[in-house]
Amino acid sequence: MRIDIISLFPEMFNAVFEQSIIGRARLSGRVDIIVHNLRDYTYDKHRTVDDTPYGGGSGMVLMPGPLYDAVTKVKSLPVGYMKEPQRLTVFMTPQGEPFKQQTAKKLTTIDQLILVCGHYEGFDERARMLLADLEISIGDFVLTGGEIPAMAITDAVVRLLPGVLGDEYSAHEESFTENLLEYPHYTRPRNFKGLEVPEVLLSGNHGEIAKWRKEMAKERTKKRRPELLK
Ligand SMILES: C[S@@+](CC[C@H](N)C(=O)[O-])C[C@H]1O[C@@H](n2cnc3c(N)ncnc32)[C@H](O)[C@@H]1O
Repeated sequence: MRIDIISLFPEMFNAVFEQSIIGRARLSGRVDIIVHNLRDYTYDKHRTVDDTPYGGGSGMVLMPGPLYDAVTKVKSLPVGYMKEPQRLTVFMTPQGEPFKQQTAKKLTTIDQLILVCGHYEGFDERARMLLADLEISIGDFVLTGGEIPAMAITDAVVRLLPGVLGDEYSAHEESFTENLLEYPHYTRPRNFKGLEVPEVLLSGNHGEIAKWRKEMAKERTKKRRPELLK
């Protein structure tokens, strides 16, 4: 899989994409992540990407021209040796479809994912209309830019790619995979400040442990996120 990110602040991604599981997935060639600077698609000496809104009001709006050129260029890049890769352009916006684990799962099937980060007041509407195949929001709150949403989406997608997580099963039982929150985890010590590890986890009986975990997952979901069970 190839992920291209278009941003005004490419340096923001370095630390996140070089570390841990994502860093290893890149090194092993399971994913290519390339960050492009939107300013490289400007043609004036100030490398202007934004302008004041028509109709007045505060803030600046990202002009459609640089976005159009950036996305068009990135969409023309090769994806491995594929003849007709499946490409998807996704705009980061608080007005988009809420991002869910199911969305992440679906995105793993795309060959080239292009994530476009907004800033200031957001995108000129025509860029959205002409370029976006999908618009995603990572929650009902407003961030300064689309960089953190793009990092969150990349992380959630890459860890689901085959071979990325050491233990394939760790992703199977995770929260939201089956519309359930995950069961509670315990590790050493057995007693911590008077709180004991549940006896069943020490029993060695894998059938009973699986049953207990399933019950805990259901109970926890019912208590914290009952809407998931519907
Ligand atoms: C300050 S926001 C613009 C918000 C826009 N004026 C509005 O009210 O819908 C700047 C950029 O941050 C990104 N952004 C902010 N919050 C987001 C969220 N919850 N999900 C995804 N992207 C978000 C988007 O790319 C957006 O264009």
